[in-house]
Amino acid sequence: MHIAILTGAGISAESGLGTFRDKGGLWERHDLNDLATPEGFARNPTMVHDFYNMRRQTVRAAQPNPAHHGLARLQKHSQYKVTLITQNVDDLHERAGSDPVIHMHGTHLVALCAACAHRWPAPARMQPQDRCPACGDGVARPDVVWFGETPYHMDEILPAIAGCDLFVAIGTSGTVYPAAGFVELAREGGAETLELNLEPSDRASAFHAARFGPASQVVPTWVDELLSR
Ligand code: OAD
Repeated sequence: MHIAILTGAGISAESGLGTFRDKGGLWERHDLNDLATPEGFARNPTMVHDFYNMRRQTVRAAQPNPAHHGLARLQKHSQYKVTLITQNVDDLHERAGSDPVIHMHGTHLVALCAACAHRWPAPARMQPQDRCPACGDGVARPDVVWFGETPYHMDEILPAIAGCDLFVAIGTSGTVYPAAGFVELAREGGAETLELNLEPSDRASAFHAARFGPASQVVPTWVDELLSR
């Protein structure tokens, strides 16, 4: 059985990383047009770098939680083929032992040259005067996909979703496309679909089944059930 899993900010919430749209979430406290668009970066690179520098520091201090560990267990020790796709820009799946992890929105632990697309490990503190070490000229930005930009690895993701037997969305509000449309793509391909979330997401009615509760509890329980089959 091929299981395609999509994770969102909710899976990292119990590791202390804030989500975007919950009460008190990042996009309630900050304007995403300022911090998560190429135009916002062009207007005020210092502010954008400060935001991602702060988030990078928070991520480095955070630890994976039982939900990340559960998925790593599923990926490593099972008879199932597991495609793990995340919208998260943190590395908690990798630190829990998942491999491979498809980062469709990139990662802020990597720097990207806006001119030549060279990538290198992001320093703890990125600044507007940083230049690309490869071409020496291009402006360095966090390697995250901003609104208005195309998510990464879609050539790999779309066939995996369309061809899977079970699609599971974990800790995502289902408000940002194209990820929010994966459930329909999976259903069109004949897959069963399952939502694991703290509470029903905006797309809850699109799934065949759902389980609600904190990811640190719901995910390991679901994984244990699959592994004991
Ligand atoms: P959101 O903040 O939109 O949604 C988080 C979801 O996690 C909500 O549905 C919550 O109910 C759920 N949640 C919160 N705590 C949870 C917990 N402990 N256990 C399980 N679920 C929990 O985050 P995303 O859906 O990931 O993109 O957001 C998608 C994209 O929007 C992000 O990748 C980011 C953002 O703008 C970019 O920056 C391009």
